[in-house]
Parts: sequence; structure tokens; C-alpha cells
Amino acid sequence: MNGFMIEVDGTGVAVPDGSSLLTAVRAAGVELPSLCSDDRLSPAGSCRTCLVRAGGRIVAACVTPASSGMRVDTGSDDVVRLRRDAVEVIVSALPPRALADGGPGELAHVCRSLGIGPEAAQGAGGRGGDDSHPYVHLDRDLCIACGRCVRMCSEVQGTFALTLAGRGGDTVVAPGTGGPWIESDCVACGGCVDTCPTGAISQPGPARGLTSAFHPAEGRTRTTCGYCGVGCALDVVTRDGDVTAVLPARDGPVNRGHACVKGRFSHGFRTSPERLTRPLLRRDGVLEPAGWDEALAHVARGLRAAVDAGGPDAVAAISSARATNEENYLVQKFMRVVIGTNNVDNCSRLCHSPSAAGLTASFGLSGGTDTFDDVERADCLLVVGANPVEAHPVVGARLLRQVLRGARLVVADPRAVGLALHADVHLRPRPGTNVALFHGLAHVLLTEGLTDEEFLRERATG
Ligand code: SF4
Ligand code: SF4
Ligand code: FES
Repeated sequence: MNGFMIEVDGTGVAVPDGSSLLTAVRAAGVELPSLCSDDRLSPAGSCRTCLVRAGGRIVAACVTPASSGMRVDTGSDDVVRLRRDAVEVIVSALPPRALADGGPGELAHVCRSLGIGPEAAQGAGGRGGDDSHPYVHLDRDLCIACGRCVRMCSEVQGTFALTLAGRGGDTVVAPGTGGPWIESDCVACGGCVDTCPTGAISQPGPARGLTSAFHPAEGRTRTTCGYCGVGCALDVVTRDGDVTAVLPARDGPVNRGHACVKGRFSHGFRTSPERLTRPLLRRDGVLEPAGWDEALAHVARGLRAAVDAGGPDAVAAISSARATNEENYLVQKFMRVVIGTNNVDNCSRLCHSPSAAGLTASFGLSGGTDTFDDVERADCLLVVGANPVEAHPVVGARLLRQVLRGARLVVADPRAVGLALHADVHLRPRPGTNVALFHGLAHVLLTEGLTDEEFLRERATG
């Protein structure tokens, strides 16, 4: 990526083309408050907490483009005072409890760094809240109307569930439908929770106030979500051996600081009283708890008896897409080496064997041949027989984002799947006529001379 040099407080720093002054200042290692800004969102420039001097003028760093050779001053007494005043004005409208417990959130961090204490928060409060939703609670008194949640919901998640309601000092976030949150279009992705700098929107319980940018460094484990095949990187925050929160990783290559309701919030099953934590053995038709040694010995006896009676191929194993690659590897190894059979299968055969065969015939590989990053390079997207908004929501959101940026969208699906609502063209072939549809497309490409002959000659066979 091309870039240029800029001077921040007398130090030269290289930044990529298109950077804002805020990016440049951060690249120089200088911390600025930026209460209405989030790297995942378009800048709003509304809070004025990121003021710096550049080119002789006082400007908001988040909305001012950096340019080659520019000189930025962040540390002069007057700009420091202006930033502090801006934060103090915002805090003064909040009730004292906004800063009372010091909290892990962004606003508390900013106030600590500027030496603004809880006494600065002098608002009356009393605006109430909305706790109709199980995962997303709103405390209107803590809202500073920065609009980050609204932009998160529309720009990153593509759901448009939120709006800013009211005027002036009474402005506050609200579900766009006007009713309770639970009746809004919210799909509980947790994006607004993760960007809110004050905890006005938060996950109830011990995760309150924790975000992907502000959470304790200790007790954090990076993992990959196991709910679907997208592969979102998540940070599991634990305290005293229990899961406090699951947060989307900002540096996750696929999810880039986003997640969906499953990865983000659906971990309560771990402690569900309905969860099986011990093996069960069926005795006289009744399932009863058993010890692990007893259960494993029972399974081994059963497998041995089956092999003795019918040979290794009398036994089969079905493994799970919910298990890790390593666990699935072990299952096939066990079947092939210990039992001596190739009878091992996986639940994904049910839905994926036709697509795997088709992909292998066409591309030589039974998997995707491109990266999710290619979505952002496409000016037209063709989605066939898939419902990513529901099945793989983080990718669905990326597709939607690209459409909102202007890419054309063609959806081929008999059903009105979520993306179909935003499609330029929604083709609804009768079930079973997909092949005819693609032959038709191929026919048009060939007869109307729309193919890239050189590409086909060099890169394609057959
Ligand atoms: S709820 Fe949070 S993110 Fe949304 S406008 Fe209020 S302070 Fe900003
Ligand atoms: S949780 Fe997600 S979908 Fe729901 S309001 Fe927040 S950003 Fe929008
Ligand atoms: S972060 Fe720049 S104006 Fe709010």
C-alpha cells in the first residue's frame, strides 16, 4: 500500500494513503480521546474530543485527512485544554454513577487519562432504560449520543435497527421501531455493545462494560468460533475459572471485530443444568449415569464384538462438524488404524457432498477458491442457494456491507432469503432447475462474447 510521511509532535511517521489525522497520531504512539470514533466505522466528527492543531488550525483529527508533510500538534497546552473541555462537557451531562465505579469502559479510561474524576458527572439522570432484550440492555442516562451504535448497526451489521432520537441534550439512542428493543429488527450481533464507549448499551451481568478494545488483558484466551464455518476469531474473557464474556477479535482476519449472536452470546450451555457431564449407560432400557472407565469399557466391548462377528467393515463412525479438526482427525485415525475400516463419515456429507463433488469437478478443490476479502474487491456479487445472513451472519454482513457501498447483487434462490431483500435481481428458479439456470448463463456468456478468452486460455481447462 502506498503511503507518505507526516510529522506528529515533531516526530516523522509513515502512514498509508487515505489515513486520517487520528490514524497518523496513533501511528506516532500518541493517545487521543476519540469518543465518537471507531476504526470499524465511518467517522462522524461530532464529539470534538480528538482536537489537534494541523496546518495552523484546530481540527477534529478523526475527520481530517492527513496529507504528505503535514505538521500536527497534539500536545500544546491550548489543544490539550480544548480536548479536556470537550470531554468535561460530555461527562457533565451524565449522572455521577457514570464514572462512580471507575469501570473498564472507554469513557472511564479517557477520564482517567485526563484526570477527570466522578465529581465532573453532574447530570440528573432519570431517563430510564430498556432491558427487554436478554443480551443487549440500554441505560439511556449513560448515552452521550455519539452515534457509534447506530453506525455499527447499519454500516457493519447492515441491520439498521437503531436511530438517534430527540434533540440537543435530550438526544439518545433508540430502537428504530420506537417500541421495546426486543421487538426491534435487532439480530443481537452485539456490535452496538462492543462499540459503545460509555456502557449505555451493554451486555447484562459480569460482561457489562467489556468491549473488544477495553477488557482486562489477563484471563483472555483467543479461540475460533465453533458454531459455523466462517472462522471468526473470538477472545474469551474468564474470571475465577468462569467465562465472563466472549468478545469479537479486532484483528480476526475474517470477522474484523464483528461477531453474531451465536459466537458472541451463546455460551450459557456450558453451565446449563440440562447439559450432559457424565456418560450414560442404557441398562434394561433405561439410561443411567456411569463412570468414564465403565462407559469406555462398554463401548470397547461392543466394538470388539461387532468386529469379531462381522469384520472391521461391520463398524462405522459418524464424526461431527462441531468437533475440532484435530478431534475429527483422531476419529478417522481410530477407525482406519485401530478398527481397520474406512467407514468414517461426517454430518456435513448430508448437505455438502453434492457441492463438494461439483466444486472438485469444476475447480479441483472441494472448498471455496477465494477469500472473504474478495467480497470487498467485487463490484457484483452472485449468491446462489445460500442464506448467509442467517447461516453465516458475519459473512452475510460483509456481503451486505459491500452492497450498501454500491456493489450489484444477484440472488438465485427459490426462497426470499435475507439478502434477496437487497438484491438488484432475485432469480427464483424452481427447485431442481439450478443446472438449467447455469447452462443458461453460460450460453449467454458464450453467445454474446462476454467471456475473457485470454483468462480461459491461460487459467481454465475443459
Ligand atoms: S448508546 Fe453508546 S454508542 Fe450509542 S449513542 Fe449512546 S453512547 Fe454512543
Ligand atoms: S445488537 Fe447488532 S443488530 Fe442489535 S441493535 Fe446492536 S448492532 Fe444492531
Ligand atoms: S472522535 Fe473526532 S470528533 Fe469525535
